[in-house]
Amino acid sequence: MSASPAPATAPRPIAAVAPAAAPAVGALHLGGLEVWPPVVLAPMAGVTNAPFRSLCRRHAGGLYVSEMVGARGLVEGNANSQLKASFGPDEHPRSIQLYAIDPKDAADATRLLVRGGSSEQTGPGVEHIDLNFGCPAPKVTRHGGGAALPWHRDLYADIVDATVRAAGEVPVTVKLRMGIDDAHLTYLEAGRVAADLGVQAVALHARTAEQRYGPPADWSAIAALVDAIDVPVLGNGDIWEAADALRMVATTGCRGVVVGRGCLGRPWLFRDLQAAFEGRPLPPPPTLGEVADLLREHAELLVAAYGPVTGLRDLRKHTGWYLQGFPVGGALRKALNQVDTLAEVERLLAGVDRDRPFDEAMRRQPRGHTTPPKRVTLPSGWLDSRTHGPGGAALPAEAAEAVSGG
Ligand SMILES: Cc1cc2nc3c(=O)[nH]c(=O)nc-3n(C[C@H](O)[C@H](O)[C@H](O)COP(=O)(O)O)c2cc1C
Repeated sequence: MSASPAPATAPRPIAAVAPAAAPAVGALHLGGLEVWPPVVLAPMAGVTNAPFRSLCRRHAGGLYVSEMVGARGLVEGNANSQLKASFGPDEHPRSIQLYAIDPKDAADATRLLVRGGSSEQTGPGVEHIDLNFGCPAPKVTRHGGGAALPWHRDLYADIVDATVRAAGEVPVTVKLRMGIDDAHLTYLEAGRVAADLGVQAVALHARTAEQRYGPPADWSAIAALVDAIDVPVLGNGDIWEAADALRMVATTGCRGVVVGRGCLGRPWLFRDLQAAFEGRPLPPPPTLGEVADLLREHAELLVAAYGPVTGLRDLRKHTGWYLQGFPVGGALRKALNQVDTLAEVERLLAGVDRDRPFDEAMRRQPRGHTTPPKRVTLPSGWLDSRTHGPGGAALPAEAAEAVSGG
């Protein structure tokens, strides 16, 4: 399979792009954990599993959070939840995102995670727990979970409190959206409550749940949260290249950045981010050959973790992101999405034009979710009250088993 040849005259891009100016931002301290650079891989369901985290971590320091894991599944010993909560043998810090809609589940799952070692897969205890209060998926918000949950401020506080207490020395953070929609913003209150209850940082995806991924993230909300609370704020939304991270820190005063879609197919973005935060010139972006090597390595890691069937199925969602902007032709993309052995991956990638330069126009090209705004699905009467009713009635069990994030 050969790629379209690069024009003979195409120069290899000189990407010694000096960052605007390295901001005066120090390491991020989450309890006893020191994170440098102050960069967090955003939890992404179905993406930030141990193989992907390992590939990203190879490029730079930072904090690399797992995909979202349901507390209920962990408590019930669900094998899939345990797999999602597993880490690479050398992974440090072991960071996990927990989704809970019930304080007891949150506490029980946290105790299991902190203790660790409950199965071969779980390994030693986690070193950081992030709580998901940002998911806008209907199957979650329909039951009052995810981004809907902070509206019921007592239930929200109970979950955060239960988690922080159960975690002991292990730092806990929360990840919020701005609220359900523009008329139901919760982030300032939810941030204050979490800070009072002892979380070590608050991450804000600067969109409402209704906005999904449609409009640009509203970084002014990040600045407002920085003004409102005393614990570090981690800004999230629309960091596509390293300069965005510096700009976000400089314009909002946030103490670190959370990077989601920008690193899809581009684990090397973390290397750029570290260089930028250290005031160094950015390294050149990878050529197609180097990207193909990363794609192959990703495949190897997935197969080693999950076996060829599941591993290569997982790879499919990544191939388009890796090859975005490279003129490799539809046939190669299609063939890569049908492979069932590593040898085939290798054979297909061997045909690419290794010297083909990275297309600079692709740096800001959206990837991953681009879902437009959509009204948030909520339980009947959810918005009528800010409290969760007598005794904090539990949400329906389906809500506890949500699997998608966002
Ligand atoms: C495929 C995908 C899955 C996601 N899953 C989760 C999740 O499980 N938990 C969560 O808090 N956010 C999740 N998100 C949201 C991201 O963590 C992040 O907040 C969002 O993508 C905005 O950041 P970005 O503009 O850098 O992408 C997901 C996003 C994507 C694209």
